[in-house]
Amino acid sequence: MTRYLITSALPYINGVKHLGNLVGSMLPADLYARYRRARGDETLFICATDEHGTPAELAALDAGQDVATYCAEQHEVQKTLGEGFGLSWDYFGRSSSPQNQELTQHLARVLWANGHLEVRTTKQVYSHAEKRFLPDRYVIGTCPHCGYDRARGDQCENCTRVLDPTDLINPRSALSGSTEIEIRDSAHLFLKQSTFVEPLRAWIDSHENDWPNLVLSIARKWLDEGLNDRGITRDLEWGVPVPDDIGDGLMKGKVFYVWFDAPIEYIGATKEWSDAAGKPDSEWQKWWRPERQSDVTYVEFMAKDNVPFHTVGFPITIMGSGENWKLVDRIKGFNWLTYYGGKFSTSQKRGIFMDKALELVPADYWRWWLMANAPESADSSFTWEHFASVVNKDMADVLGNFVNRVTKFTVARFDGKVPGEGDYGEDEKLLIAELDKRVAAYAGYLEDIDFRKALAELRAIWVAGNEYLTKAAPWTHVKTDRTKAAVGVRMGLNLVHLFGHLAWPVIPASAKAVHEAIMPAPEVIAWPDQPMAQYLDSLEAGHEIHPPEVLFAKITEEQLAEWKARFGGEDAD
Ligand code: MF3
Ligand code: ZN
Repeated sequence: MTRYLITSALPYINGVKHLGNLVGSMLPADLYARYRRARGDETLFICATDEHGTPAELAALDAGQDVATYCAEQHEVQKTLGEGFGLSWDYFGRSSSPQNQELTQHLARVLWANGHLEVRTTKQVYSHAEKRFLPDRYVIGTCPHCGYDRARGDQCENCTRVLDPTDLINPRSALSGSTEIEIRDSAHLFLKQSTFVEPLRAWIDSHENDWPNLVLSIARKWLDEGLNDRGITRDLEWGVPVPDDIGDGLMKGKVFYVWFDAPIEYIGATKEWSDAAGKPDSEWQKWWRPERQSDVTYVEFMAKDNVPFHTVGFPITIMGSGENWKLVDRIKGFNWLTYYGGKFSTSQKRGIFMDKALELVPADYWRWWLMANAPESADSSFTWEHFASVVNKDMADVLGNFVNRVTKFTVARFDGKVPGEGDYGEDEKLLIAELDKRVAAYAGYLEDIDFRKALAELRAIWVAGNEYLTKAAPWTHVKTDRTKAAVGVRMGLNLVHLFGHLAWPVIPASAKAVHEAIMPAPEVIAWPDQPMAQYLDSLEAGHEIHPPEVLFAKITEEQLAEWKARFGGEDAD
């Protein structure tokens, strides 16, 4: 049996993440990790803050803090918010950890020893105002590809192309705005990516059938355009230092580029996890250095701008090491979530951020809307109107109302206990047959990591329950045929129990509350494995139930109007 290693792209440390970041990596990874655990699979779900590079330094500067203090604080902030959203990380690490430093230096050393790294003299942007080199985001200018005038030196936010600071037209310092800039020579280590085109193409082709098109097409585009050798060091102080035994003595005072050490932190955070638990190295190594690659199924979640680094950059580090590190098996990539059709933007503080979101409604409302509308095959757009209508319908009217109707009626007319009288008849058998199909379909979509379809199926299961109950109408029959009413109630209560189980990966807190209407819930609410005929007749007669307080309060017109005014609505670009 295979074990499941699950990672989500590491959020940058530079401030609270927005809902687009959440739905493009951390949240889907959580849903999948919970599903695997519900299935009883041995699962490890790892994430961390991505703390190096110019984004961290610039954000610290902005906050008036030294970068180490800033990172330590922001790590805690992101950890707390992630937990608030129910993200069930086994470990949430930090790319600035000693574990990551050691692993990054190790991998660089073996790449150097294997001849995959080379020292080259490069042209770097030097600022006279600051008396320092300005790598990556320290330089701002006009994108040579799309003309966007606030492109950063590492990547254009507008067209997503990866850039070199010297590519920018009209470059200026992001620190001072100074244009007193000179191009100077500086020695750096380069990873000879061009020699990996063949093995990479073979590896990517081998995933023709199990990677989504979005991921395959991005990966192939990079290969087709020809892989450039990539500079993996920077003239910065904050980062993993380049050890002096590599780079011909020319790497003094330099650090690795953030995109070199960040993916290695997937491994680093796993070591942080086993170290924190006082476990031996064999514990993290069983995930990253398995005896056979097939012992571990490794699944990565990320937004599409991260795909090149995970289909090309990180795999080259792994392959080039010549060591038996685990390579990713499945990559789930996401398109963009937009805010009224425009961009969510951290720099422009546009859209909804994780901290504000949790102040408005419970995490599960967000989890439901975001995953039911995940930008899987295309971008999707957040609007307050759509959010409110989906939450009110799916959660309050469909799921919440069902649970309330059945459990309250049980208390009112059956003493709050599961009634044992009567046998399931034709209507129950039809429902059971439908649910056998739908539950299997729901599981199939989750196995395929096809979230929108999965959640549509889950909703259809709730709807089927409602339709059954409306037809069974125990509140009508109870006056004339108590046995008939008892059958409807018994089925209804079994359905509530089932819904608690099925919803747990998606909306864990609500699923727990639903389950606890029937009986106490374990920490991991397991997948219902039995055929529905058995499962839906498993509550014992006389078992006492406890109707929940309001499960899902509806979003009101007043709230909707207030939030639109506060966060901005249609006026988006
Ligand atoms: N911090 C990056 C981003 O938000 C993602 C890093 S993923 C990793 O785009 F693999 F490099 F860690
Ligand atoms: Zn551009």
